[in-house]
Amino acid sequence: MKVKVAETAGFCFGVKRAVDKVYQLIEDGVSPIYTLGPIIHNEEVVSDLESRGVRVIEVEDLDHIKSGTVVIRSHGVGREIYEKLKENGLEYVDVTCPFVLKIHRIVEKESLAGKQIFIFGDPKHPEVQGICGWCHGPYRVLKNREDVENMIPEADMEACVVSQTTFNYNKFKELVEILREKRYYNNVLNISNILNTICNATEERQKEAKNIAGEVDTMLVIGGRHSSNTQKLFEICKEECGNTYYIQTPVDLDSEMFHRSSCVGITAGASTPKKIIEEVQEHVRIKF
Ligand code: F3S
Repeated sequence: MKVKVAETAGFCFGVKRAVDKVYQLIEDGVSPIYTLGPIIHNEEVVSDLESRGVRVIEVEDLDHIKSGTVVIRSHGVGREIYEKLKENGLEYVDVTCPFVLKIHRIVEKESLAGKQIFIFGDPKHPEVQGICGWCHGPYRVLKNREDVENMIPEADMEACVVSQTTFNYNKFKELVEILREKRYYNNVLNISNILNTICNATEERQKEAKNIAGEVDTMLVIGGRHSSNTQKLFEICKEECGNTYYIQTPVDLDSEMFHRSSCVGITAGASTPKKIIEEVQEHVRIKF
């Protein structure tokens, strides 16, 4: 069986930086350590950290913690969380990805300048919720075509568009096109205020996954169940290769997946450790 592994598969720079930082804190003897939400969407890594005493907490828990160090993960948080941490006198380590921080700065600056903010992304995703938390005025989170078509922007208010770092680039272009068709340009939207804030790591990963999926008989996408960037990779690959499967570990592999396949492609979401990618690769090579 021929196996093609995407070079961009696995931890991106921001996730690696965040995970490394938590392990560094453990090594430095910092205790107790809390992460505000799981540090990454990978159960294996989170349970390994748990076994070393790192506890995952939610925003509501911040009022009950008396001491310790809270890690703000790469998704980032809104400004009210920083305020809460300070109010409660808690130490914190901020590993928000610099690409996400850049979006925080943009929406803060543009909303303070009197613009309404359109955010292309999933309203339920923590990164998007964090971005909303830096808007000082009206904003809209637009997930899909329907949202953009039904949106009623604030009248007489200029707009600025940003997107979740893991948004699909083609979808971004499609939504911008709808805004154009709806003639929001000239009225509220100036082309220079449409900022493609999709992270390069995501774009490159998506492009490479699409290319590989177009060349293989079976495509495997590895990632945690709740990882939105893995879900998007899966959708992209599925369009190119009907035989695409979403797996978490080698345990999910099944011979049915490789029926009449001579070439298998592998990619993985940003929170998938290298070790798991290698294990899956090994399994496919040896067992199928
Ligand atoms: Fe950062 Fe891009 Fe990863 S925004 S967390 S480097 S996907």
